[in-house]
Amino acid sequence: MMTKVYYVLPEEAKDIREKVFVEEQGFKEEFDAADGVSVHLVLSDSGKPVATCRFFKGDEEGVYLIGRIAVMPEYRKKGVGASIVSEAEKLAAEAGGRESVVHAQTRASGFYAKLGYQPFGEPDDEEGVPHIWMRKALCPKS
Ligand SMILES: CC(C)(COP(=O)(O)OP(=O)(O)OC[C@H]1O[C@@H](n2cnc3c(N)ncnc32)[C@H](O)[C@@H]1OP(=O)(O)O)[C@@H](O)C(=O)NCCC(=O)NCCS
Repeated sequence: MMTKVYYVLPEEAKDIREKVFVEEQGFKEEFDAADGVSVHLVLSDSGKPVATCRFFKGDEEGVYLIGRIAVMPEYRKKGVGASIVSEAEKLAAEAGGRESVVHAQTRASGFYAKLGYQPFGEPDDEEGVPHIWMRKALCPKS
């Protein structure tokens, strides 16, 4: 498994997000302005892209938003999602982040809880899908 970092949304990430969020989950507004200011990660297995996520700097000093975390179905429950989020957290911390925030689908909140995220704020929805804000303190850059 190997992770590559991109500063422009790569085709590999676009492809995974289309398969997971658009085809599998039914989202329509998948690509947005945040893609243009995000760092994108793609994790591959023997050259095959299997997971992606993005992160970008939030409005509040030191806060980074990690999102669009998608693992191809056949690679789920093997630690791949945890691994790519951990890499994004590391890069965000290196960029000066002290806190990571996710706008989690409520059905995936258990995944983020396992990674140390705690809920805050009011639940809301995106395209009719219930979401919850969750955050986690990042280890300072060593
Ligand atoms: C949610 C998702 C990213 C998790 O990725 P994954 O590779 O399957 O997760 P991991 O194997 O790294 O799981 C890490 C831990 O979280 C747990 N976990 C994974 N998905 C979970 C879920 N939906 N609810 C509760 N716990 C979950 C795992 O059991 C594991 O626990 P363990 O450490 O005790 O074994 C993946 O299922 C996915 O891509 N789903 C579709 C897209 C999506 O919903 N993304 C999230 C948008 S907010």
